[in-house]
Amino acid sequence: MSTKSIPTADIQLYINTKKKLLDNFLEDLLNNPNLFKEPQELWDAIRYSLLNGGKRLRGVLCLTTLESLTNKNNDSFDTDDLLTAASLEIIHAMSLIHDDLPSMDDDDLRRGKPSCHKAFSESTAILAGDAMLTLPFYLISKQCTKLSDTQKLSIIQTLSFTTSFALVPGQIMDLAIKEKNIELNKLEKIYANKTAELIKASILCGAYLSPNNIPQAKETINYLSNYGSKIGLAFQIIDDILDETSDTKTLGKTSGKDKLQNKPTYPMLLGIDNSRKIANELINDASSDLNKVNLKSQNLQFLAQFILNRIN
Ligand code: IPE
Ligand code: IPE
Ligand code: MG
Ligand code: MG
Ligand code: MG
Repeated sequence: MSTKSIPTADIQLYINTKKKLLDNFLEDLLNNPNLFKEPQELWDAIRYSLLNGGKRLRGVLCLTTLESLTNKNNDSFDTDDLLTAASLEIIHAMSLIHDDLPSMDDDDLRRGKPSCHKAFSESTAILAGDAMLTLPFYLISKQCTKLSDTQKLSIIQTLSFTTSFALVPGQIMDLAIKEKNIELNKLEKIYANKTAELIKASILCGAYLSPNNIPQAKETINYLSNYGSKIGLAFQIIDDILDETSDTKTLGKTSGKDKLQNKPTYPMLLGIDNSRKIANELINDASSDLNKVNLKSQNLQFLAQFILNRIN
């Protein structure tokens, strides 16, 4: 299937519809008084960091993968599907709370609002992140009622592997780099870990949600993984570019922060144009990987394009 392009506004509309679905689901989930009772400070901090913000790209990628492999759509996603997509967003939001802490990137603004540790205390922000890191495992093991045990295990394994062996190590490596002239392949490795693996995991979890093992042929999983790694790396490169070229209001986080903190980034090493070129190549490669999988729509292709054209 060759890839047509569609107007950015149409992709945005597609994303917004799924984002709304996820926003509403997360809101209902976190407002369940039986589960999230005390202490109020903790759950307020979690609600503050999770609701009303974020592009929901990881959740959307999960649902789009499921949709692309099955006959499901926005009207037929069930609670298990939404719990899984929500879990990816919970882990992602946890990573942002911790990323902003004074001992990490020391950022006061996130999603257009004071960062969690600014709105609450630093200790509450750390502990909110801790609770958010394990909440998905409870939600999937306890509240998903239709998935088989094998499916639940695959999802839990993917989420826990990604966090312990990629996201957290990636953040440690990111904070440890001191040399401004770091080699590109080292930076690529950091980005693959801190950012791309969770994006890849979002796609894999979408595949594991599909019933009857339809897509779970090893080849399909491999191509989807490659697609995920490549769009994930492109996503972080674009994040670096936007940090240099956009403004705080559009981003909802402090622009120019990487330069201010002397962080080596793709644009710092290669310049904006070359960095964008690399991101473009990654998206084209990802698109070729997708073309090798039998999918029911081109929406994953369109999401890859969105990553290049996004403004925040
Ligand atoms: C920000 O991710 C952190 C990075 C990995 C660059 P997003 O840009 O997806 O953040 P939200 O969820 O939309 O706020
Ligand atoms: C974020 O990278 C990676 C995470 C795992 C959170 P950044 O530090 O560049 O993300 P932003 O720019 O603060 O969103
Ligand atoms: Mg960071
Ligand atoms: Mg940061
Ligand atoms: Mg950044």
